Amino acid sequence: MLIPPYGGRLVHLVAGAERLSLLERARRLPALQLSPRTLCDLELLATGAFSPLDRFMGQADYARVLADMRLDSGAIFPIPIVLRVSADPPLAPGDEVALRDQRNDVIALLRVEEQFGWNPEREARAVLGTTDPRHPLVAEMQSWGERCLSGPLTVLSLPRPADFAQLRLTPAQVRARLSAMGYSRVVAFQTRNPLHRAHEELTRRAADTVGGALLIHPAVGLTRPGDVDHYSRVRGYLSVVERYYDSRRTLLSLIPLAMRMAGPREALWHALIRRNYGASHFIVGRDHAGPGLDSHGQPFYGPREAQELVARYADELGITMIRFGELVYLPDEDRYVERDEAPPGARIFTLTGTQVREEYLARGQALPTWFTRPEVAAILAQAYPPRHRQGFCVWFTGLSGAGKSTLADVLTALLLERGRQSTLLDGDIVRTHLSQGLGYSREDRDANVLRIGFVASEVVRHGGAAICAAISPYRAARNAVRQMVGNERFVEVYVDTPLEVCEQRDTKGLYARARRGELPAFTGVSDPYEAPVSPELRLSTVDTPPEEGARAIMAWLEARGFVLPAG
Ligand code: ADX
Repeated sequence: MLIPPYGGRLVHLVAGAERLSLLERARRLPALQLSPRTLCDLELLATGAFSPLDRFMGQADYARVLADMRLDSGAIFPIPIVLRVSADPPLAPGDEVALRDQRNDVIALLRVEEQFGWNPEREARAVLGTTDPRHPLVAEMQSWGERCLSGPLTVLSLPRPADFAQLRLTPAQVRARLSAMGYSRVVAFQTRNPLHRAHEELTRRAADTVGGALLIHPAVGLTRPGDVDHYSRVRGYLSVVERYYDSRRTLLSLIPLAMRMAGPREALWHALIRRNYGASHFIVGRDHAGPGLDSHGQPFYGPREAQELVARYADELGITMIRFGELVYLPDEDRYVERDEAPPGARIFTLTGTQVREEYLARGQALPTWFTRPEVAAILAQAYPPRHRQGFCVWFTGLSGAGKSTLADVLTALLLERGRQSTLLDGDIVRTHLSQGLGYSREDRDANVLRIGFVASEVVRHGGAAICAAISPYRAARNAVRQMVGNERFVEVYVDTPLEVCEQRDTKGLYARARRGELPAFTGVSDPYEAPVSPELRLSTVDTPPEEGARAIMAWLEARGFVLPAG
């Protein structure tokens, strides 16, 4: 039996003419742009996934959730769901605000009833049990607004992502699909990872244990930074579910859940949410929603802590936990068992996420079939190509005439010779199209650098080599590009040719003009150059021909696997 009092739509969702007139009204209201996390929360509030919660929490709910995992009404609810805003614009009780998404489309209206402050450290301690900045939510919290807003919501339109639209079902839709399968019991499975063999074992055993249907319910909102992207994961879920599960009793649906990685409290929350989607049972395995290791190299939560907390609330949850110890593979018997049940002395195989990435994917090695299905292995191999097929950016910085363009030309040729797709973005050339019209003020120079950086980051994202040569005199702008591209694939090369040498060469006659005062704001003469503090490479062009410099860069790239050895 599905449990009727939960789920269903709680928040007022308008349509038709009413919606149009509210949209009109929203145009005149103060607007708040929601973060992707808050947008996920709003969607789950609106569809009843957080039932009985029907709004962002007010102060009484918030305080009690922190203190004893309950709403003010006494209903169990372990995670704060709060709309945090900065002090601007000032709002008063009774004011209406339009809640907008990242594209500025109006999602909902909120009538302000309460505003209150919050303390990140207190919340982190209560909800996460830690203030260690290695915890991904602790780190993120620093950027949240300092005030919380609460009041009734009117939802005008829910986000409708185009990817995998057929799998994005509301609680009511999931309940209807599950009902149609005809089982009285449903076990739900939460995951933020690809569905490997261990997960498959967990889910199949759980469905057999309860003798019911299986709801595979992966989180596709926000998960732990660095997780496999949801596109790859969902492609994997689809192929595994189609080939290895019984379609008459399995439902795959995606939930736009923004995870907190709060371990035990999160497990309790996940169970309540799945109850609202119509599940009667919920799987909690080893280290459920665990965020990895803290700054002392220790796990944030014990492997069974989540199960212990959920067990303590078993009587009032309205959903039953199915618990599993760590599943491990016995190669000599070709089967998975819980670690405690492995025969003494038996060989045991397991792989961590880091091993998967570093020992297999980064080296272009196929993942073993005991660990994951070949379909999933192929998708991951495509999503995580080995280093020599990943993109990178070589960024030359230095004074005018230092030799950046020459080096960049030679390097590009050498990379192409080795079969690496390369795009050369030379500052002077870029200024004739991408940055036409920009001058040499600090703002314009920074804009130029950021434009080159943006294009470079796109090239890198698609697995190419971006070779950029621009004076790029300001450290902050270069660092901004480093962030855009990704630190681990950004190679800053400081072409450290002294001003006197550049001026002596004066290939374009610019120094002479600058000295005559004909060129204002000329770097090194009348405008600053901030040398890199710790560039990946520093090259001198005084006694070294460009071929040699470029070969040094090639050797650096080869040593890090970005370029395969010649031959
Ligand atoms: S989680 O953050 O969503 O919990 P993950 O997707 O890895 O991460 O796990 C989903 C569920 O499967 C959790 O309940 C987790 O405890 C369980 N689980 C994952 N791997 C194993 C394993 N090898 N043994 C037991 N349980 C596991």
